[in-house]
Amino acid sequence: MKLNEEIKKLKEKNDVTILAHYYVSGDVQDIADYVGDSYYLSKVATEVSQKTILFCGVKFMGESAKILNPEKRVVMVDESADCPMAHMIDEETIQSIKAKHDDIAVVCYINSSAAIKALSDVCVTSSNAFKIVSSLPEKNILFIPDNNLGTYLSTKIKEKNFIFHQGYCPVHQDIHMEDVIRAKEEHPKVKVLAHPECRIEVLNLADFIGSTSEIIDYATKSSDESFIIATEDGILHQLGNKNPNKTFYLVNENQQCFGMKLNTLSKVYGILNSMENEILLDEDLRQKAKVPLTKMHELAQ
Ligand code: 13P
Ligand code: SF4
Repeated sequence: MKLNEEIKKLKEKNDVTILAHYYVSGDVQDIADYVGDSYYLSKVATEVSQKTILFCGVKFMGESAKILNPEKRVVMVDESADCPMAHMIDEETIQSIKAKHDDIAVVCYINSSAAIKALSDVCVTSSNAFKIVSSLPEKNILFIPDNNLGTYLSTKIKEKNFIFHQGYCPVHQDIHMEDVIRAKEEHPKVKVLAHPECRIEVLNLADFIGSTSEIIDYATKSSDESFIIATEDGILHQLGNKNPNKTFYLVNENQQCFGMKLNTLSKVYGILNSMENEILLDEDLRQKAKVPLTKMHELAQ
């Protein structure tokens, strides 16, 4: 029997639903029950009926699913699949900045560990950050950990005083302005679609800036026939599926997330058999980390 069919059988037998991010490889996206951006996946995790969620993504995504659904078993395809940005700020830094301001909200990009979420007022993803930060009453915004997304938001939300941290996504940080200029020269008049985790000088060259699902929507609805893509290359799978007659060019050769690509089809099969790599969280930490995630879901409506 083919691996895909074996996976389908095991999934049903073990009452498992599979969630996958757009950055995992295409064959893994194809066996998932739900594929989406980080906001969609955190929402869908609260709506599924199966007892077990198998997460094809990185650790903060599985953790968020577990934080919101303590009664479910959440398992990761590869326990070392992690997002480096999620560990780029420490608890002491947050506490010391908070202590210096009265009127401050700690806004935590969802790409962060449960311990960092537990110290934050609200979580955001790239698809809802503008709406949520704009709606907060506090004047000072400590935006952690992604400096690029924070900087981008600060150009759009002028009334807030942003305090940034130096975190970044290695994949998007490695997309340089020179790469984009070269891609634009090679493909004249082709629009650049960029993720807000990119450097501000790259975003300044983009025609559209959005989350993974917003980039897919934009390209799908557009009458243009080709696009330059400034985000992780796993997105090409759905871009191609939804737009078989359109052409997508990457900006450079390095647009691959190591953690996301640890999710392979054979490991999915192995985990459905073993049910290893379960996310387990201390209950006190889980309850504290749930507060900013729940607030994100309320404010993103
Ligand atoms: P979105 O899917 O929310 O755009 O996030 C991208 C990302 O880097 C996830 O780790
Ligand atoms: Fe983290 Fe970047 Fe990978 Fe997203 S693409 S999971 S931000 S390292």
